[in-house]
Amino acid sequence: MSERRGFTVWFTGLSGAGKTTIAEIVGPELEARGGLVEYLDGDVVRTHLSKGLGFSKEDRDTNIERIGWVASRFTRAGAWTLVSAISPYAATRNTARGMVEEFGPFIEVFVDTSVEECARRDVKGLYAKAFSGEIKEFTGVSDPYEAPPEADVHLRTEGSSPEESAAALVAALEEKGLIGPKVAA
Ligand code: ADX
Repeated sequence: MSERRGFTVWFTGLSGAGKTTIAEIVGPELEARGGLVEYLDGDVVRTHLSKGLGFSKEDRDTNIERIGWVASRFTRAGAWTLVSAISPYAATRNTARGMVEEFGPFIEVFVDTSVEECARRDVKGLYAKAFSGEIKEFTGVSDPYEAPPEADVHLRTEGSSPEESAAALVAALEEKGLIGPKVAA
């Protein structure tokens, strides 16, 4: 059954772009379609699996490679895995893709929100600190973000609600044949 075929949806974008918010809307939608859903969220992963890592390029790459490895195992086990991590470097995202694709599809989703909009939202108050220099090496302000030139799904969040972005992604997963219709309760 296609329902048991694992895959990984990899959300990349700036801090505060909406990766986690969209993943948390998409997750229950996928469960309603028979999937076993797993989440790997950068903020959460950094409290255990990547505890102690900072935000140098080396540490970010280590973080992303760890998440990629776990996502590959979840994918192998048949889970529908939702990764939300800035993952600022294209080459490292491709390393994660390579690990996952040994076992199933990898869908790169670019959560495209400008630095200006993320700073305006500033949900965690981090952009203010980044602009004042209190936080160094902050992605999009004082550290690089390599936008994916050809993401599998490109969500432009400015002008769309998180629900609309989530619905667009679910439709794209359907179109790719990765998920079927909702199953009756
Ligand atoms: S990644 O670069 O290694 O992919 P990850 O997604 O795990 O990053 O963690 C990003 C989160 O860490 C941000 O949402 C933010 O809450 C926090 N953070 C703290 N310092 C920084 C920084 N210098 N740059 C980006 N995010 C930071």
